[in-house]
Amino acid sequence: MNRSLGDLLRAATPLAFILAIVGGMAPALATQAAPALPQMGFNNWNSTHCRPEFNEAMIRGIADKFISLGLRDAGYRYVNIDDCWANWQRDKDGRLVPNPKRFPSGIKALAGYIHSRGLKFGLYSSAGTSTCEPLKENRGFPGGLGHEKQDAATFASWGVDYLKYDNCNNQHVDARQRYTAMAEALRATGRPIFFSVCEWGENKPWLWAGKPPVSAGSWRTTGDISDSYASMLKIFKQNVVLDRYATPGHWNDPDMLEVGNGGMTDVEYRSHFSLWSIMAAPLLIGTDLRTIKPDALKILLNRDVIAVDQDPKGVQGHQVRDADGIHVIVKPLADGSEAVAMFNETDAARSVNVDATEIGLRHGAHYRLRDLWAHTDATGDGSIKIELPAHATAMYRISRL
Ligand code: GLA
Repeated sequence: MNRSLGDLLRAATPLAFILAIVGGMAPALATQAAPALPQMGFNNWNSTHCRPEFNEAMIRGIADKFISLGLRDAGYRYVNIDDCWANWQRDKDGRLVPNPKRFPSGIKALAGYIHSRGLKFGLYSSAGTSTCEPLKENRGFPGGLGHEKQDAATFASWGVDYLKYDNCNNQHVDARQRYTAMAEALRATGRPIFFSVCEWGENKPWLWAGKPPVSAGSWRTTGDISDSYASMLKIFKQNVVLDRYATPGHWNDPDMLEVGNGGMTDVEYRSHFSLWSIMAAPLLIGTDLRTIKPDALKILLNRDVIAVDQDPKGVQGHQVRDADGIHVIVKPLADGSEAVAMFNETDAARSVNVDATEIGLRHGAHYRLRDLWAHTDATGDGSIKIELPAHATAMYRISRL
């Protein structure tokens, strides 16, 4: 009943696979043809950084909230933990070990708890000699550079489903080499582990990270987001122009969501969520779900907007207008309809007119326009005239009648 679009597609995959084999296609081709949608889930970084509240009790509580708040049913799947989960030192055999204060039961037990809730578990490391957190006693938390095989085997043995792999302390080793080494080590474990490249767009990862031999599921395109309108706007502008590099299963990642963290208005958070969705970005919740306010939760649970992000056509929206502080982005959807986001970045309300032809529709035809925030339908010729408050985004799904 309450299954998300993502679930239905994933459930459909074995059938597609069998049909493809019966039809004479090579299995490799058949699996590649399965749609892989932008990852949805949670990561603790934006809400806790390395504060002591980041521990196993918190993460178990978040997994419980995925279910009780309806987030799992809406398609959110990954519960990911970020920097500061590890102990300062590897063990005597060179293995990573969790910080015993934060994760006294161990990572395997935590992953098991998350799996028992029907969710997936993600972990963090850095493609460097240590991770990004400031050094303590001249040592950072251990990174994966030079330890790729051993660390990947450890992650697989713990039941890790997702690795975010950062860029700090990289000793100036070539990025492709560092990310290839971990990608190959992860594949060699035989466990499917989603690979999230996080080198902040420094080496134009959109040109190589999605392709073999790295074949990452996503790559960060920018520096870190912070919980302000200015930061969100800057990152949006850097990511929106990279649409041609996103393909199904390989996404531009403009960093995690700040929705609910308190530094933006609800209007701005709705813009943040709309823009990330029309850009087919990963939707990784970055707020503490144990204390989230109803208005923020409502944004994260907007299924009309989530369906745009998760559309199986797998196309990142294309910006068709960027003029006078007004942005218009169009994303073609699998059922032949178009999603359109209209964003007013300016500090004053603006009237916006978009002609049907500007968004690629036929002149003189009839369309249904669904307002994805009001959840109302109207009919028209596909053109849109709207008053947009400062920093607001309107979003529509337009289908031919
Ligand atoms: C980098 C990453 C962030 C976060 C921190 C953790 O800055 O870009 O997303 O993982 O490291 O230290």
